[in-house]
Amino acid sequence: MRNSHDIKIAPSILAADFSQLGKQVKQATEAGADSIHIDVMDGHFVPNISIGSMIVSSIRSWSDLPFEIHMMVSEPEKYIKDFVDAGANIITVHIEACKNIYQTINYIKQLGVKANIALNPPTAVSSIAEIITEVDGILVMTVNPGFGGQTFIKNMIKKVGDVNSIISSKSIQTEICVDGGITVENASQVARAGAKVLVAGSAIFSSNNSIVDSINNIRTAAHMGLE
Ligand code: DX5
Ligand code: ZN
Repeated sequence: MRNSHDIKIAPSILAADFSQLGKQVKQATEAGADSIHIDVMDGHFVPNISIGSMIVSSIRSWSDLPFEIHMMVSEPEKYIKDFVDAGANIITVHIEACKNIYQTINYIKQLGVKANIALNPPTAVSSIAEIITEVDGILVMTVNPGFGGQTFIKNMIKKVGDVNSIISSKSIQTEICVDGGITVENASQVARAGAKVLVAGSAIFSSNNSIVDSINNIRTAAHMGLE
């Protein structure tokens, strides 16, 4: 049985087979994923273009899991409602992309979904010191956003710990998510530092193992970091 201390695994469909995206989302769901991580890229905030709200609509019926939309776009406010209408349950915006992060977070909450903030690797933890009490989660990027399959940036383990210290000092329940280069090898370290949601693309969809084995292996490795 799972409890609140358990690690959650969020497969990132950026690494899935796009020709059968619905089926891949279903497979990840049946394999025990806790949510589905959907990377939205605009070719402006990041140097790549990926998924729009129409794709999210078309895969919504393939899973009952929460859909988390990771918006790597400039002016995310313009597109948030489209993704909520398409079936998003969590909207993650980058603090670097928002002119007024308070307004954006309030807007997301008014639409009735959860709100997370993402931080690029160079962005200081101090930038979220005030807003952290208003959000459901903080996503610490452990690679530079834009592409799947990159190498985990080890310095980000300390950053996860720093975010966790703020959460503990304020006695809040904000979940720390990590995204980028997460593997069986680093899962225990990020979990020990305080990460609760591990996003993984390549390590789940482009692995030599099955989706179910990959998810279980990452979860087991993460839990070992908590022992
Ligand atoms: C990177 C994306 C990640 C990416 C993770 O810009 O935000 O979600 O899909 O993929 P892996 O796990 O392959 O690094
Ligand atoms: Zn992502």
